[in-house]
Amino acid sequence: MTTLTTLITGIAELATNDPALGDGPLGIRHDAALVVDAGAVAWVGPADAAPEADRRVDLGGRAVVPGFVDSHAHLVFAGDRSAEFEARMAGTPYDGGGIAATVLATRSATDGDLRHRLAALVAELRRQGTTTVEVKSGYGLTVEDEARALRLAREVTGETTFLGAHVVPPEYAGRTGDYVDLVTGPMLAACAPYARWIDVFCEPGSAHAFDGDAARAVLEAGRAAGLGLRVHANQLSAGPGVRLAVELGAASADHCTFLTGADVEALGGGRTVATLLPGVEFATRSPYPDARRLLDAGATVALATDCNPGSCYTTSMAFCIALAVREMRLTPAEAVRAATAGGAAALRRADVGHLGVGARADLAVLDAPSYRYLAYRPGVPLVTAWPPAPEG
Ligand code: NIG
Ligand code: FE
Repeated sequence: MTTLTTLITGIAELATNDPALGDGPLGIRHDAALVVDAGAVAWVGPADAAPEADRRVDLGGRAVVPGFVDSHAHLVFAGDRSAEFEARMAGTPYDGGGIAATVLATRSATDGDLRHRLAALVAELRRQGTTTVEVKSGYGLTVEDEARALRLAREVTGETTFLGAHVVPPEYAGRTGDYVDLVTGPMLAACAPYARWIDVFCEPGSAHAFDGDAARAVLEAGRAAGLGLRVHANQLSAGPGVRLAVELGAASADHCTFLTGADVEALGGGRTVATLLPGVEFATRSPYPDARRLLDAGATVALATDCNPGSCYTTSMAFCIALAVREMRLTPAEAVRAATAGGAAALRRADVGHLGVGARADLAVLDAPSYRYLAYRPGVPLVTAWPPAPEG
């Protein structure tokens, strides 16, 4: 089948994320053009040497970076926790206890309501340059409600994550072992067909989440069911989550707010991506982890939103980039790379997060001359995604 090719010109600065195609770690080219064929990059080079194409799009001198890869989001939920946020800003600490309120609201929502909210959030992400998003379950916590969340998530992304082990739901209070049996048994069986990944909130000190042994049991069961592994690790304390993630070969250890030297060393020596969620530190008044220390140790760092109604309700990857530059000691180039190639690594995807030949032609187009503006102009809506509507 022949498809129409598109030549994209007017790119003042193109970040390819491919050092072979341009300068520095972002593979920067100026006055570049791209040819897109069947949704993939078919050619990258200087605009004055561009081949003919069926159509032409002129971006009018804008900067282009790869579409953001948001590798951590909880988008299937109902209810409102803005009062919890307000209390936190006044000093109440975040401990995950508010998750139960979202579980209650989500269970009583209709499929139509959840689908509508999910679609609105995905559209909001896309308007801000995110072209790949991971979506977790975790606000159902019954066999039916978790499977429903994943079925709905599957309608918007292939990157779906079973998070039945988000917290112990109220009806299992004091019976964590029984709940882990449910998660690793019937719930996993019902959810695995709709999930690519399994995740667990590993936080031994928390009254709500799971200790290292329970987390290991969940991850091993998920792996046996064919799922890839991700871990909510070291969010509230320097617990066993990060090292467990590295030991089990998880694709990603997420949060990494409280890290010991051994955690940093493990992430530096393993294949597990350190996914940092600076919006969570912002919205929970937690200390920001030091991303530079992770990069210096040899770790791959990703940035993601963690969009959820409790610990961080943003869909803006640009906001996360700005925070990571201001608070986590990343350069603007490193932060953009973490939000694109880093996210792709956290999802073990080679087809997104860069704009080399063969990559998906997912672009974040900036109403600015350079990628630096993502951190330089925080809070300003500079970004749009191209192509403008999801292609599936
Ligand atoms: O990634 N820590 C666990 N889960 C989410 C928060 C969920 C919530 O508070 O609703 C997180 O921060
Ligand atoms: Fe999360």
